[in-house]
Amino acid sequence: KRKIIIDCDPGHDDAIAIVLAAAQPELDILGITTVSGNAEIEKTTMNALKICDLVSLTDVVVSKGASDPLIRLRETAPGIHGDSGLDGPELPEPSRSWSEEHGADTIIRLVKESKDPVTILPTGPLTNVALALSKAPEIKDNIEEIVLMGGGTFGNWTPTAEFNIWADPEAAKKVFDSGIPVVVMGLDITHQALATKEVIEEVNKIDNKVAKIVGELLVFFASTYKEMFDFDGAPVHDVLTVAYCVAPELFKMKDVNITVETKGEFTAGTTLIDLHGVTGREINAKFGLELDIEGFWKLMIEALKKY
Ligand code: BDR
Ligand code: CA
Repeated sequence: KRKIIIDCDPGHDDAIAIVLAAAQPELDILGITTVSGNAEIEKTTMNALKICDLVSLTDVVVSKGASDPLIRLRETAPGIHGDSGLDGPELPEPSRSWSEEHGADTIIRLVKESKDPVTILPTGPLTNVALALSKAPEIKDNIEEIVLMGGGTFGNWTPTAEFNIWADPEAAKKVFDSGIPVVVMGLDITHQALATKEVIEEVNKIDNKVAKIVGELLVFFASTYKEMFDFDGAPVHDVLTVAYCVAPELFKMKDVNITVETKGEFTAGTTLIDLHGVTGREINAKFGLELDIEGFWKLMIEALKKY
C-alpha cells in the first residue's frame, strides 16, 4: 500500500480529493494536516474533520497546521469557496476534535515513524511542508515524492500566479528547492478536469450520501467559477494529486526545472516552469501537461459508487 499524507485547506476540491483517496484500497492515509488557505485554519480544519466523518476516516489523525504563511500576511479565497471554505452542502458538526499536535509536527512524526517511504500530497499553500522540512530536514530521506497542486504556466490569482503558490511563495520555493522529487499538478492540467453539467449529472445518478454531498460541492464550486472566471464547470484541481498516485497512466508529464518567484513586484508566487530547458537548471519536477479526461472521471465515478 502506498503511504500518503494529505496536507490540505478544504476547500471543495480538497474535500473531493479526500473522498477519492478514502475509496482507494491501494492507499494508506497516514494522516491529514490542514493549512490556512481557502479559509482560516480553524475553518479548513473543521471542514477536514467533517469530510473525514462523511467517508468514515475516523481513525486517521487530523492535525491543525499553520494559521499564517511563513512571512506574508494571510489571504483567503471566500469568493471561490464561500465564507466557511466549504459552502454548499449541510454537513453535521464533526464527531471529534483535531489533534493537539501541530500539522507540521504530525508530518515529521508520521514520516519518521513509517517503515516505507511516504508520499505527501499538498493541496493548499505549502507552509506546513516547508515548516516540517526546516525543522526536521532528515525526513527528506523517507519522503518518496511530493505530489502537489499548485502553479502553472499562467495564473488564477494574479495574471501569472496560482493561488496555492501565491499564498506562500517562500514556502513553495523551499519545497521546490528541497531536492525531493516533486510532481506538479498545475493549472495547465487541472483546468482539463472540469466538473461540467454532464459530470454533475453522472455524480447525481449515484444513490449514496457521499455522492450526494460531492454533487452539492460541485454545484457550489461551479457557481463561483462561473461568476469569477466565466467557466462552464469547476476545475477539481486538488483531486488530480490523488488520481496521480493511483493511476499515473492517466497523466502526460514532463521532466522540468521549476522554481518560484518570491521577489517580483508583480510576479511573486509565479512558478517558473522551464519547459524547454532554457535555464540549464537541474530537473527537479514532473509537470502535468495532459490529462486523460475520460479516464479521470471514470476513476472518480467508480470511487463514488463504492460508498
Ligand atoms: C487551488 O486553490 C484553491 O482554491 C483550490 O482548493 C486549489 O487547491 C487552485 O488554485
Ligand atoms: Ca486546495
